[in-house]
Amino acid sequence: MNTIKLNNGKLIPQLGLGVYQTPEGEATVNAVKWALEAGYRHIDAAKVYGNEAEVGKGMLESGVPREEIFLTTKLWNDDVRAGRAKEAFAESLKSLQTDYVDLYLIHWPVDGFEKAWSDLEELYEAGKIKAIGLSNFHKEHIERIEKIAHIKPAVNQVESHPYMNNQALIDLSKSYGMEVEVWSPLGGTGGNLLSDQTLQALATKYGKSPAQIVLRWDIQREVIVIPKSTHKERIEVNMDVFDFELTSEDMDIINQLDRGERVGPDPDNFDF
Ligand SMILES: NC(=O)c1ccc[n+]([C@@H]2O[C@H](COP(=O)([O-])OP(=O)(O)OC[C@H]3O[C@@H](n4cnc5c(N)ncnc54)[C@H](OP(=O)(O)O)[C@@H]3O)[C@@H](O)[C@H]2O)c1
Repeated sequence: MNTIKLNNGKLIPQLGLGVYQTPEGEATVNAVKWALEAGYRHIDAAKVYGNEAEVGKGMLESGVPREEIFLTTKLWNDDVRAGRAKEAFAESLKSLQTDYVDLYLIHWPVDGFEKAWSDLEELYEAGKIKAIGLSNFHKEHIERIEKIAHIKPAVNQVESHPYMNNQALIDLSKSYGMEVEVWSPLGGTGGNLLSDQTLQALATKYGKSPAQIVLRWDIQREVIVIPKSTHKERIEVNMDVFDFELTSEDMDIINQLDRGERVGPDPDNFDF
């Protein structure tokens, strides 16, 4: 598994399991266990996904030592607005049955995010979080954090896939010293990205699946990628992307699929 070094020196596995819309209960416990059995060492959770308890259970039942797993969770918008980052963080730790997380993100740039950032900095200084970062932050939001931050954000987690590669925001985030994690890398639940004819043709050419082609493109463009699946075989094949390489011409072909088509909300215009 490739790793990427964050701006505080901490290493993050470049590919992890996402659990958005993974149903609470056994589905999440199993997805986490299957991923860890398959060699994943990175889980991307969030309080609002409603399945932190099952993520924690899956991690414990896997038998993989806690310190080998890079665990991310996120501070939800209501908690940012209410100024209760520290309380929400404590609730997440309890649900996850752990005493620290590797990465804690402000999920969306809602009112109160500067105060939340200061609270995250205190939790970081206290050693309860190994790295702190942002999600869905655009230029103006990043600049507001830069003005008040004592600790630079390590990460920006943003929507990105071949139909909306978001490369300008990725480049901008990196110019601030952040690594970028990409969400909905496979085009999200219910999307049609993986039936794209260009991706299908590349899949045939490399003897891989369209999902593997997209995930390999992410590895080669040096972003961190967190595909979600509830199926054991898919969880396994999604990690099997380290034994082949796309040519630069094929990387370009995928770059050109961009058509600015989001599958999720626009951080400049959302209402939750
Ligand atoms: N920060 C944010 O605001 C934010 C927003 C959205 C997502 N995220 C994070 O990013 C993660 C990934 O994004 P996402 O869950 O929206 O979507 P995604 O990973 O792009 O796509 C998930 C969909 O692809 C299917 N799939 C997975 N592997 C496949 C394969 N090999 N072949 C065919 N289909 C496959 C899954 O189906 P099955 O499950 O049925 O296999 C599911 O329907 C989330 O789980 C979450 O951790 C963060």
